[in-house]
Amino acid sequence: MSESVALNLSSVGVIERYRKFLPVTEKTPVISLNEGSTPLIHSPRLSDTIGRGCQVYLKYEGLNPTGSFKDRGMTVAMSKAVEAGAKRVICASTGNTSAAAAAYAARAGIQCAVLLPVGKIAMGKLSQAFIHGAIVIALEGNFDQCLALIRDLSSEPGTAVVNSINPDRLEGQKTAAFEIVDALGDAPMIHLLPVGNAGNTAAYWKGYFEYQQLGQTTRLPRMIGIQAAGAAPIYYNYVIEKPETAASAIRIGNPASWNLATAAFKESGGGVDIVSDEKLFAAQKWLASNEGIFVEPASAAGVAALLKYVHRELSFESPLQSMPDNSVIVCTLTGHGLKDVASVMDDSFQPITAAPEKNAILSLLKGAQ
Ligand code: F0G
Repeated sequence: MSESVALNLSSVGVIERYRKFLPVTEKTPVISLNEGSTPLIHSPRLSDTIGRGCQVYLKYEGLNPTGSFKDRGMTVAMSKAVEAGAKRVICASTGNTSAAAAAYAARAGIQCAVLLPVGKIAMGKLSQAFIHGAIVIALEGNFDQCLALIRDLSSEPGTAVVNSINPDRLEGQKTAAFEIVDALGDAPMIHLLPVGNAGNTAAYWKGYFEYQQLGQTTRLPRMIGIQAAGAAPIYYNYVIEKPETAASAIRIGNPASWNLATAAFKESGGGVDIVSDEKLFAAQKWLASNEGIFVEPASAAGVAALLKYVHRELSFESPLQSMPDNSVIVCTLTGHGLKDVASVMDDSFQPITAAPEKNAILSLLKGAQ
C-alpha cells in the first residue's frame, strides 16, 4: 500500500481496529462504514462544576456514520449475518437500531425490515430507515411488543435478528470501552450511560472486563445506568407495561439485557438512577450551550445525572452519592441531536427578523448583550 493511502486507526472500522477481540475470521466479509474511533472529549465546564478534582470526559457516539453507537454493534452483526448466508435482517427499534440496520443492510446488499412503535420514532431516524431502503412496519404497540414479535420471526430461514439480543451486537459495542481505555491510558473510575434495552451497559462492561483481564487497565469503572423516570424498569425492578418518556430512544419497559445490565451494575459497584424528562432536556441544552455538543434527549442522561449531583438533587440511595475525589468520569453521549430536532424546537426557536442593513443588525446584537 502506498504511503498516501496508508490507513490510520481512525480511518478503519471497529472490526479492523479490534479484530483480535471480535468473533470474526478472515472468512468473515467485513460490512463496515468506518464506524467507531469517536472522540473522547474533555468537558472542562462539567469538571469545574462538579469540582473536587473530578474530570469528566464525553464519548461522543453521535459521530458514528448513522449518528449513534448502534453502528459499532451493527458492523459485527451484519458481517456475521452475511457470513452465515442471511438474505434478510430484521429488528425492533425505537429508531437508532433501525437506522443502523437499514444503512448496513444497504451496504451489504440484503433486505432489511424494521418493526417500530407507531408514532414514537423521531423523524430523523425514520428518514434514515426509509432512505436506506428498509421495509418500515409500524406496529400499534410499544417497543417491547415489537421485540417480542422479532423473537417470533427469528427462526424464519435466511433471516438474522440484529437487535442486541444478537450477541454479535454486544461484541461490536464493547469496542467503545476499548477506545476509552486506549485514549485515557486506563479505565475511568465512573462510567455513566443511558439505559433502554440495556445492551450497551452489558457491552461496555464486557469490554472493560476483557481489557482488564488482558492487563490493559489497572481498574474497572463503576457502571452507572440512567433511565428516564417514566421508563425505568431496572430502577424500580418491575416491568413497566406502558413506559412513557419524551426521550423516545429509551422508551422501553422490559429491557432485553436486563439481567446482564443488573450484573454489570452489581459487579462493578455501580447502580442505576433515574432522571425526569425535564432534567434530560435541561442537560441536553446545557451540553449544547456550554460544550458545543448537540445530542438527542436520551443521550443527555449521564450528564443530567451529574447535574443532579451538582445541584444536590440526588436521592439518598443514588449510586452517584459516593463519588470519590479526583474521579475520572466518562459519560457516553449515545446519539446525535440532529436525529430528533422536533423534540427541541419550541416557540423560542424563532429567528429575529431584521432589515438588511448593518446598523439594524448591530443594534440587535447590542440589545441582546
Ligand atoms: N441512547 C440512544 C440514543 C438509543 O438509541 C438507545 C437505544 C439507548 C441510548 C439505550 O441503549 O438499549 O443499549 O440500553 N436504542 C434502541 C433502538 C433501543 O432501537 O435504537 P440500550
